[in-house]
Amino acid sequence: MGNTSDFKGKVALISGAGSGIGLELAMEFGRHGAIVVGTDIRQQRVDEMKKTLSGMGIVAHGYCVDHAVREQVERLRATIEAEVGPVDILCPNAGVGHGGRIEAIPHAEWQWVIDLNLWGAIYMVELFVPAMVERRSGWVLITSSGAALCPSPGMAPYNVTKFAKLGLAQTLYMELKSQGIKVSALCPGIIATNIIRDGNIHGQQNAQHALEIYTEGSRQSVPPSVVARDAVAGLAAGKPVIRTPLKHLLLGDLMMRSSRKLFLDIGAALFRRGRNFIGPVVGKE
Ligand SMILES: NC(=O)c1ccc[n+]([C@@H]2O[C@H](COP(=O)([O-])OP(=O)(O)OC[C@H]3O[C@@H](n4cnc5c(N)ncnc54)[C@H](O)[C@@H]3O)[C@@H](O)[C@H]2O)c1
Repeated sequence: MGNTSDFKGKVALISGAGSGIGLELAMEFGRHGAIVVGTDIRQQRVDEMKKTLSGMGIVAHGYCVDHAVREQVERLRATIEAEVGPVDILCPNAGVGHGGRIEAIPHAEWQWVIDLNLWGAIYMVELFVPAMVERRSGWVLITSSGAALCPSPGMAPYNVTKFAKLGLAQTLYMELKSQGIKVSALCPGIIATNIIRDGNIHGQQNAQHALEIYTEGSRQSVPPSVVARDAVAGLAAGKPVIRTPLKHLLLGDLMMRSSRKLFLDIGAALFRRGRNFIGPVVGKE
């Protein structure tokens, strides 16, 4: 089965570790004795992450990287090899939030979301997984989303990337199991992080509603520490898909699996009335 004590002394690389789920993953792997390598596009968040983890007695390295740019991830690999050592736990986590109606999304926004949310994960997998296969050991935790299990309308680019990441994780699960490498897709529900504040939600009213829903202490959201605890335990246990918190996803996931048509027709009816499964989607934006 495996245990979280297996993470002691292992090197965990987490992208987007400067905030939200990535920061909590960094702390949680660190609490289990891992050496943390955290990256973020914002230098200030990298510095703060390192300071926070060091203050907890965790060995932490931090690098400023744009994960949407392959050359920067190649450079990161060379730097980690020279300064830290082989990566044992790979967490493609960095991602941006996006919402908008299909007819209102400019091409550049599709590209922005896909370049980070999907290509960013692929770059990490193609650059770090072969060395794990060579060593016949490791763990891969790919941050997908509840959006890949029960998608909402009004989020096409985001949903596309999260379905793709679930597909990537499940394919790797099958390919790498016999190589001694555990792979999980992390599927969080509604988590209070900076994803809406730093993302791009079309329509002022929609953005405002989303901010309220995804804020700390809101009725709908849970803190990212819950996700990190479930993620680290689920990865150690070899779960292919980690749904967290379960209460956000159980009903939608069950409905989607028992009658996809029923689930999609409910989504369509909600959308006609200016809503989706998360909240209001008003206006033409
Ligand atoms: N918050 C949620 O409700 C939720 C739900 C499901 C899945 N997720 C996924 O969790 C992951 C983490 O999101 P979060 O909610 O913690 O958001 P967040 O905005 O709090 O954290 C994301 C971090 O990624 C960094 N980042 C942004 N662009 C980057 C780039 N090009 N290169 C490197 N770093 C970059 C940001 O600076 C930020 O620190 C994302 O993949 C997101 O899609 C979030």
